[in-house]
Amino acid sequence: MSQATPSLTSRPEWQALKDHQAAMQDVHMRDLFQQDPQRFKHYVLDAAGFTLDYSKNLITDESLELLFRLARSCNLPERMEAMFRGEHVNVTEDRPALHTALRSLAKDSIEVDGKDIMPEVRSTLTRMEEFVWRVQSTQWRGFTNKPFTDVVSIGIGGSFLGPKLISAALKPYWSGHLNCHYVANIDGTHISEVLRKLDPDTTLFLIQSKSFRTQETLENTEVARQWFLQNGGCQDTISKHFVAVTANTPAAVKFGIKEENIFPMWDWVGGRYSLWSAIGLPTALTIGMENFRALLAGAYRMDQHFRTAPLEQNLPVILGLLGVWYGNFWGADAHAILPYDHYLRGLPAHLQQLDMESNGKCVTQAGEPIAYQTGPIIWGGAGANGQHAYHQLLHQGTKLSPADFIIPLQTHNPIGNHHAILFANCLSQSQALMQGKNEEEARAELQAEGKSRTEIDRLVRHKVIQGNKPSNTLVLERATPESVGALVALYEHRTFVQGVIWDVDSFDQWGVELGKQLGKGILDQLMAPTGEEGKTDSSTAGLIQLFRNRHGSSQ
Ligand code: F6P
Repeated sequence: MSQATPSLTSRPEWQALKDHQAAMQDVHMRDLFQQDPQRFKHYVLDAAGFTLDYSKNLITDESLELLFRLARSCNLPERMEAMFRGEHVNVTEDRPALHTALRSLAKDSIEVDGKDIMPEVRSTLTRMEEFVWRVQSTQWRGFTNKPFTDVVSIGIGGSFLGPKLISAALKPYWSGHLNCHYVANIDGTHISEVLRKLDPDTTLFLIQSKSFRTQETLENTEVARQWFLQNGGCQDTISKHFVAVTANTPAAVKFGIKEENIFPMWDWVGGRYSLWSAIGLPTALTIGMENFRALLAGAYRMDQHFRTAPLEQNLPVILGLLGVWYGNFWGADAHAILPYDHYLRGLPAHLQQLDMESNGKCVTQAGEPIAYQTGPIIWGGAGANGQHAYHQLLHQGTKLSPADFIIPLQTHNPIGNHHAILFANCLSQSQALMQGKNEEEARAELQAEGKSRTEIDRLVRHKVIQGNKPSNTLVLERATPESVGALVALYEHRTFVQGVIWDVDSFDQWGVELGKQLGKGILDQLMAPTGEEGKTDSSTAGLIQLFRNRHGSSQ
């Protein structure tokens, strides 16, 4: 799947964008808005349940035209089709990336290496449905015959962030009597704090691990099992309380999970794209299967839009190309995700994994070193809180971080004027980023405050706000299962678009593996009676010694 030569930066389309950026260097968005009173209308797109206002970007029609040309020169439409069809777009692991199959409502078959995967996808959904019904209707009970009150999901990375985001985003749809908790970290505090509040006889554990090899998840599962056994449970009743989701059934069985309690996953689903699979069970148990299916349907709607809309009217394509524009031509290193909705506060964390694990790469698919910027630092948090914290850097800092403002038209919790105020805050931030405050305005303000000439001269530069900072505003009707599904799918595809332009494998994560490998060796050294620090660098050895001095050599 590697791109044919010439390399990205030597293409005429790339050079044209460089020249165009140089010509745009001194253009201010304020002037663009003044020159074109219809600018909003020119750069707004209604699709798949969203309104995207991308008018507050450093773009003209020419910029977009050049970006679409670049996308075509990278075979973006063909690469999109290849992903949907199940070609091996994950080149280093030689497999497809078919998260879209998990939410496909089409009747068509989707083949992986000659086998239609859709029957198993559908039968797994049916099994999930049955399981959710049994737990919610209290037919499936704990070892003392009490109905479950709490579900603890144990998993990390994609087996944690996605379901956690969806559970929180869809809190208004929680039905029934189940509380959902997530344990991810190997920091013992995490599981201790969760278990402290729970009763073993009414707690159901979901062990979520695609590989069933992840240290944090296995250690936490062992803690949960011991807690269960030491608090009234016994070996014979473990099967009532422990259910797993994994692509590695033998490992889960070996670990002590009964085969009939194991839901499948497949190697063609990446961890960070797995919330649509049975990894979504904790969510499904709380919002019910009907809502879970609506979540899938929302994502499918976005898939259809992404697959069929022309590039020029394609939400993930436009957002992806704007990211390329800033990252590769304007020197942006970061991209902010700013949801103005309390329920969506987990979105930045999920998108951090999605985007940074996918596109934090430095070689092409063919393994050639990359001489241009790839994935940005994804960061952010809920608005309006961020306005009283890190937005200062967006307004007056020296770093460029384009931002996505995400806001629903309607809230689930209408209280007084709260939602109008929230909406106003969101709009005022993107407006301030765009227009800033020039020296003339700053001086006039200081004068109106009665400041002296000397004071004005001393203060004015601090008060000037450059503006010209790009942002998108993505408006949805309300955070519902459909819209949240579509929103997450939108960002998955945005990530894919950028990966195609940068010619990276967006579906592997070899960097993560190094930490895991080294972690094992260091743990051995921490636990070893005598040191072998000579084999390691002096910093790591010194820190190992500190730990040993405090804890002794064996734990
Ligand atoms: O360590 C990173 C990672 O490999 C992620 O990609 C993945 O989502 C996470 O670990 C958890 O992996 P698993 O589901 O196999 O336990």
